[in-house]
Amino acid sequence: MLEIVKKTIDEKRQGEAFSGDPSMEQTIGKKFFIESYGCSMNFSDSEIIASILQAEGFGSTKNEEEADLIFLNTCSIREKAELTVRKRLTEFRKLKKVRPTMLVGMLGCMAERLKSKLLEEEKLVDMVVGPDAYRSLPALIQEAETGTKAVNVLLSREETYADISPVRLNSNGVSAFVSIMRGCNNMCTFCVVPFTRGRERSRDDVTIVQECQDLFDQGYREVTLLGQNVDSYYWVDPQTNHPIDFAMLLEKVAKISPLLRVRFSTSHPKDITDKVLFTMRDHSNICRYIHLPVQSGSTRLLQLMNRTYTREWYLAKIRRIKEIMPDCAISSDIIAGFCTEEESDHLDTIDVMKQSAYEYSYMFVYSERPGTLAAKRYTDDVDMETKKRRLSEIVSIQNSLSFESNRRDVGKIFEVLIEGESKRSDKQWMGRNSQYKVMVFEKAENQTHQKGDYVMVKVDDFTQATLLCTIVN
Ligand code: SAH
Ligand code: SF4
Ligand code: F3S
Repeated sequence: MLEIVKKTIDEKRQGEAFSGDPSMEQTIGKKFFIESYGCSMNFSDSEIIASILQAEGFGSTKNEEEADLIFLNTCSIREKAELTVRKRLTEFRKLKKVRPTMLVGMLGCMAERLKSKLLEEEKLVDMVVGPDAYRSLPALIQEAETGTKAVNVLLSREETYADISPVRLNSNGVSAFVSIMRGCNNMCTFCVVPFTRGRERSRDDVTIVQECQDLFDQGYREVTLLGQNVDSYYWVDPQTNHPIDFAMLLEKVAKISPLLRVRFSTSHPKDITDKVLFTMRDHSNICRYIHLPVQSGSTRLLQLMNRTYTREWYLAKIRRIKEIMPDCAISSDIIAGFCTEEESDHLDTIDVMKQSAYEYSYMFVYSERPGTLAAKRYTDDVDMETKKRRLSEIVSIQNSLSFESNRRDVGKIFEVLIEGESKRSDKQWMGRNSQYKVMVFEKAENQTHQKGDYVMVKVDDFTQATLLCTIVN
């Protein structure tokens, strides 16, 4: 399979006549444009999709105006995410008027949630393809080219796209996502993901480690292992029958090279184990940063959300992380105004935020999603004004926690991985420390640093989102 991929792309590059499968001949020269929404998993999927399409002779373009195929890799997590995609579709309608042969495909979570209903609602859409059906894209494109609407939203219990080498789109050449599992079995009551992504399944460790090794060999210096719930990663080697858990996988990736930074996302508080924390502690290239979404600080709400932990349990987990790795940064996801939330629940959330001293948080108002357990069982009874007020209080608490965290860093020395030039000036480098904080510093006149290099810097000052540093020798 990979051989064919390489050959097809090479042939195209050399401008030679295509001599492969005649049914694919029409794809040569056709270009696809792909736009991604939602979480990192979706962005990572777009790289798999690009690989599948390139293998069939399609070329990618960053310019929608010259595309024969437009793909939107969509997100359903909140209503707003879906509205954004619908708005974008109206823009493509104009393009289609000028290029009537152009095909539009809806991929990802919104495709899975709405299925063929999308074709009725959005006349412009020619293809609807769910997250486990991307291998069938070339066939679906052929079908759509005949004027038939093409749909595949079958979810799989096995698909992990393990054998596909993603084409790195919009890459800085330094950091890359590596998908280690798909789906989610958790059934948090507010969440649409188990419905759009299906059952949880892990990818085999050998292809994961190989992909990370290949990235390292190509000059990448940071990989982020992705899954909705990485701590429940579990793979049994079919030859040896040896089980591999997330801590073991982390260790295997970390051992590729001390120069390769390893990150991961997302951890569910109920599943992150001491074994994972000790593995992090023992490998300095596994970054000191854990995204540990709390969702709410109220035990009553956590129960309604089916998060399966209490506030005390969560806070004990935070203490354990800090005990094992005092310099570990922690971030969170927080939902304001979930069903039945009272002022006292909201104050509990603020209290957990303060006790956890999060470096960052991603904060949202609750958005009821059709078909979820919360939509079926509870009433979305907190009015929008209250939701927004609580969210803005949560945001302002987070701003002060982030400010405090940055202030504590002033005077400290960190190792930074250079990701590129700073947005402001080509005389400055931008990179991150292990804790994922953005750092900016002047390039040294007499040194020849490059993207992907590690540099020691001292923090002099900070703005809301950036630590301002100088190089130390
Ligand atoms: N798997 C990850 C997160 C997936 S979705 C985890 O378990 O943490 C990312 C975040 O979106 C969630 O953590 C949650 O905070 C938020 N979210 C999910 N469903 C939502 C909804 N219906 N309304 C508002 N926010 C939601
Ligand atoms: Fe959604 Fe919960 Fe699964 Fe995260 S763990 S994807 S919030 S169901
Ligand atoms: Fe959105 Fe699907 Fe990710 S709903 S957050 S793109 S898993």
